[in-house]
Amino acid sequence: MDLRHVLAQLPRITDENVLVGFSNADDAGVYRISAELAAVLTADFFTPIVDDPYSFGAIAAANALSDIYAMGGRPVVALNLAAFPTSPEFAPIIEGIVKGGADKMAEAGVSIIGGHTIKDKEPKFGFAVMGLIHPDRILDNSKAMPGDALVLTKPLGTGILSTAFMFDALSAGGIEEFTRSMMTLNKKASEVMLDVGVSTATDVTGFGLIGHLNEVLGASGLGARLNAEAIARFGEVSELIRAKRIPGGTRENIRNFDPFVRWEEGVPDEDKILLHDAQTSGGLLIFVPEAKREKLISALTKENVPAHHIGGVSVYGPGKRIEVGRGY
Ligand code: CO
Ligand code: CO
Repeated sequence: MDLRHVLAQLPRITDENVLVGFSNADDAGVYRISAELAAVLTADFFTPIVDDPYSFGAIAAANALSDIYAMGGRPVVALNLAAFPTSPEFAPIIEGIVKGGADKMAEAGVSIIGGHTIKDKEPKFGFAVMGLIHPDRILDNSKAMPGDALVLTKPLGTGILSTAFMFDALSAGGIEEFTRSMMTLNKKASEVMLDVGVSTATDVTGFGLIGHLNEVLGASGLGARLNAEAIARFGEVSELIRAKRIPGGTRENIRNFDPFVRWEEGVPDEDKILLHDAQTSGGLLIFVPEAKREKLISALTKENVPAHHIGGVSVYGPGKRIEVGRGY
């Protein structure tokens, strides 16, 4: 559900220590504690998207941490947020989910210091996370620069694949590939980009590549061009799109964000859907000065983070904010 107009009616934030609130649809909120230190806060939970409880818990953790990494923060503590059925046969499943989440948080160096569970027929799981950041080094949505190159980690298509998975239309290899990708932390990607020095970043989640790119461009007052041919996708995604297995969230993204896009002739129809596909635990979309682009991609590749140059940021003139073609 889109809460943006509900949020818009909340009282204006007057506390000057709130460095990032919800006005620019940023990945996480930021609160200044001192001149050198701020807290980055986010929360995320959802219903299972894979059968294996342990993997689902790990995905929920990686997904919840992602917004902190996208802001350039270092996550330190987390709270479990859970809704579980109480029937005894569900107990081992809960155990698996919680263990998967805890192991992933441990891998990230994050301590789980509490949480809250309620009864619910449909299980839901996730985390509230706090990270730390220097108040002068927040990678928020307003900081993209004209001339930035766009670099995307992780392939696209988790929305299409999780829908196919529900309908048993996915191969064992396909399940393994997208599960592994969603379980992968954006930690290394974030550390590398902070090391290289970038303009900003966001993580690609529910609004899809176009939706999240659009939020940064809107907050920064800029436009962008994407090269559809450079955008990595999971193996079975194109066939599944052609078979019309399009998730509801992806259809909603098309309604909300396609008005911002001009598709050049020759871009395949399945790419139009892929670029709007709602992602779970997707990669980072990094805005990096063109002069540092090669350095960033080679540093990410060295750390085994898949990274592709998918386009660039431009001054926003008349017309659509985002242009997608074949070639840069
Ligand atoms: Co985000
Ligand atoms: Co989030």
